[in-house]
Amino acid sequence: MKIIIGSDHAAFDAKGMLLAFVRELGHDVTDAGPDSKASCDYPDFAAALCAGINDGSHDQGVLLCGTGIGMSIAANKQRGIRAALCRTILDARMARAHNDANVLCLGARMLGDELMKEITREFLETGFEGGRHSRRLSKIENLAQIENLEE
Ligand code: RB5
Repeated sequence: MKIIIGSDHAAFDAKGMLLAFVRELGHDVTDAGPDSKASCDYPDFAAALCAGINDGSHDQGVLLCGTGIGMSIAANKQRGIRAALCRTILDARMARAHNDANVLCLGARMLGDELMKEITREFLETGFEGGRHSRRLSKIENLAQIENLEE
């Protein structure tokens, strides 16, 4: 798959670690930045990564910040993005199987490298179950459309 990975300064080292890991798994990997550990604003990198999914050039994304919370809030503001903050392997499995999440969010200050790798592996290897879950995702999409009509 084509995977795009981005972070903020707090997760810069973890981003480098995961870029290498996901490449080792055999995926085609893009670095959405940042290019250094200089202090930056996570919404900028969430926006860049989500654009790389919404334009069809990537299948899935991984966003990292200190907690993963800011990235998940920012990513979920964008149409077509289903971002899931995962702190366990089971979270990752369910986010894919039931929610068809297309962005995994990780907190680099909350999790060790090995756990982040295994959560990412599970996320990338689990398929969406479809069926009743598709109906629920359609309802989420409808919520976004209703909100836009009211603006
Ligand atoms: C940066 O200090 C920190 O706020 C950020 O990485 C993230 O944890 C926000 O949700």
